[in-house]
Amino acid sequence: MFKKINIALFSLFICLLGCKTKKESVAVKPETTQNPSLKNSFKDDFLIGAALNTNQIKELDTSAVALLKKEFNSITPENDMKWEQIHPAIDSFYFDIADKYVALGEKNNMHIVGHTLVWHSQLAPWMQEVTDSTLMAKYIENHINTIVGRYKGRINTWDVVNEALNEDGTPRESNFYKVMGSEKYIELAFKLAAKADPDAKLVYNDYNLWKPEKRAGVVRLVKQLQKDGVKIDCVGMQGHWSLKGPSIEDIENSIIAYAELGVKVSFTELDVTALPNPWDLNGAAIEQSYEKYEGDPVMNPYPVKLTDSAQTQLANRYEAIFKLFLKHKDKIERVTFWGINDGQSWLNYWPINGRTNHPLLFDRKNKPKKAYHSVLVLKNKN
Ligand code: XIL
Repeated sequence: MFKKINIALFSLFICLLGCKTKKESVAVKPETTQNPSLKNSFKDDFLIGAALNTNQIKELDTSAVALLKKEFNSITPENDMKWEQIHPAIDSFYFDIADKYVALGEKNNMHIVGHTLVWHSQLAPWMQEVTDSTLMAKYIENHINTIVGRYKGRINTWDVVNEALNEDGTPRESNFYKVMGSEKYIELAFKLAAKADPDAKLVYNDYNLWKPEKRAGVVRLVKQLQKDGVKIDCVGMQGHWSLKGPSIEDIENSIIAYAELGVKVSFTELDVTALPNPWDLNGAAIEQSYEKYEGDPVMNPYPVKLTDSAQTQLANRYEAIFKLFLKHKDKIERVTFWGINDGQSWLNYWPINGRTNHPLLFDRKNKPKKAYHSVLVLKNKN
């Protein structure tokens, strides 16, 4: 009787062991010389980051977290530190997820990015309604002091101001700009962040920064901050790109122009859409909506997986992008992907909801794609 139970238990144990090993070996192969990681391959060049969603921060998505630990050495919270999440009411902050996020980064010795302090989008409604400039300055001050202060010495880099410029480089007419009457709110935000944590790296982050007119706007902004003695360390080029554009030359010209100002450049939100654009979409402004295309199969050509030829196109595009990054590695601090795997990417629901996009280096099962190998091989040629 006992023997039978023992045999049964033993078999169950073996099965559990077997199942576990099998699952892990399918999802994330351990690093070896034959199977190197992104973070170690590029360790002498720049940091390799990923944006984390809430489930990943909570370590509920165990397979993605295993991949994160193997491949990446920097993290950015995809949504959980945005104003509407972290400061939802005038006198209340919500730090539960942000605390877990920072703890996860520390536990794994990762570079930790805070995203983002002042942004017109995903702003708490109460802040959107402020109309008095003195009050607005007070609220910005409380927001930055409380959040940056809480994570002082623990968050390495802050996206201080996000998307403050129009496509032609002029100031965006956000509520911040309108109420404060000028771009002084940007200066205020950088000054406050520098004071709250003098060691943190401070970033101006925006999309379409490869565009010559927008590039000129950033150059103007950074020069103004520098003239006023305000600390800014880095320009963050988001990098929501496609198979066709922007051109490598436009990206390169921006890297050079920003570096000439004496600041670093980071690619903070890299993804390459594999799907057709229904528009001549200008950038990644998340207000744009294209509901009329939902369910249109022409707009969703790879609902199951990429064709071999699309896979190759994506791999070639990533290879060209990373060749450029390596050429300018002295100017580039970090390359962060906007997500760990294709399944989590915001491009599945933006700008058209309900599509199946494939913009990252890992597929929905956390398996490396051809694009992953095309990037890695740049550093691991025999
Ligand atoms: C996106 C997130 O990925 C989505 O989950 C969310 O619904 C909208 O915002 N620029 C930014 C990022 O700076 O914070 C945005 O992230 C993408 C565009």
